[in-house]
Amino acid sequence: MYSDRVLSGMRPTGRLHLGHYHGVLKNWLRLQNEYQCLFFVADWHALTTHYDTPSVIEENVRDMVIDWLAAGVDPAQATLFVQSRVTAHAELHLLLSMMTPLGWLERVPTYKDQQEKLSEKDLSTYGFLGYPLLQSADILIYRANLVPVGEDQVPHIEFTREICRRFNHLYGREPGFEDKSRAAVKKLGSKKAKLYEECRTAYQEQGDDEALASAKALLNDAQNLSLNDRERLYGYLEGSGKMILAEPEALLTAASKMPGLDGQKMSKSYNNTIALREDPEIVSKKIRTMPTDPARVRRTDPGNPANCPVWQFHLVYSDDSTRQWVTAGCTSAGIGCLECKQPVIDSILAELAPIRERAQYYEENPDQVRNILADGCEKAQELAHDTMRDVREAMGLTFG
Ligand code: TRP
Ligand code: SF4
Repeated sequence: MYSDRVLSGMRPTGRLHLGHYHGVLKNWLRLQNEYQCLFFVADWHALTTHYDTPSVIEENVRDMVIDWLAAGVDPAQATLFVQSRVTAHAELHLLLSMMTPLGWLERVPTYKDQQEKLSEKDLSTYGFLGYPLLQSADILIYRANLVPVGEDQVPHIEFTREICRRFNHLYGREPGFEDKSRAAVKKLGSKKAKLYEECRTAYQEQGDDEALASAKALLNDAQNLSLNDRERLYGYLEGSGKMILAEPEALLTAASKMPGLDGQKMSKSYNNTIALREDPEIVSKKIRTMPTDPARVRRTDPGNPANCPVWQFHLVYSDDSTRQWVTAGCTSAGIGCLECKQPVIDSILAELAPIRERAQYYEENPDQVRNILADGCEKAQELAHDTMRDVREAMGLTFG
């Protein structure tokens, strides 16, 4: 709502691999340079599906944070924390549950999909139905406006937007809103107040989006406004009530092009991954033994890269001249498959070397990891408390 704020979470359900790196983490690295970023371990979300195996979660929280740091997520730029350490997420989840129509949750497409996909588990639980609402609380509690997620998560962001609008509609109409807003306009000072009023009229009467944007910029820059007044003036500008919670937007992450060792998408459930902290020997072995074009039974049989999973790796890692060398050598049986795989091995090892080095540092210094999370949790708690103060007030929970 004010300046851009990015938030994303990941469930701690296993070691991260190259698919996560190319699909998610490289995107985070870019975002941390551009925006205020909050990245958190969604351990409560992991419990919705792993409530009967908590040991999985325990092991993976620390390891996942080490993988993030190893990949280059920088705690000096981004805030890293663990969801369950900021218990206000649970309070907001509870309060939002009061006004969440059951039908909205039942209609979220991931609900039935995941229940069918994970049919070996009993997911007809209260917690699992509430999964998207807990995610809404994660996002809304930081008034994060940008949420980097994959395609599969878009329905959850849409759901969050609806919850946000419903909340603001129900609770944003404080008594005396108009009068309070007019008083807040005066606090802008006469010049800015005039500009704000002009923009507001232009937006409300002519739908002028540029006027809306300039008025928002003006509010962002107004140092002397209290948080409450600023929210009031946002709402007053757009003709709604006070905007207590901010509507987020999905920042769609392009699907990872990272193939797995068998040519399917790289995924733990296909058992075709290369872990971020994979030992170099194992990396080489995994690539050396991966399947190739089945037409190349003997070294002298020509092949076709289009039928070979190794080619998918060349598309990720190799430059044009290497790719030409592969195509010419494969189709003429001029090169052997092991020869063809060597540049891929070299590229992956080069990519993983600095990652492994940083991971080793944090494995040897677990206190550093703990400190990074403690700092991050503290920062997150402060931000969450600001929102919760307004939410409690709006929902009549201030006495005593
Ligand atoms: N549901 C997300 C996933 O499975 C994880 C998640 C939980 C999340 N809370 C979030 C992502 C808030 C973004 C914002 O990937
Ligand atoms: Fe695949 Fe390379 Fe062997 Fe061709 S030469 S089949 S592209 S590994």
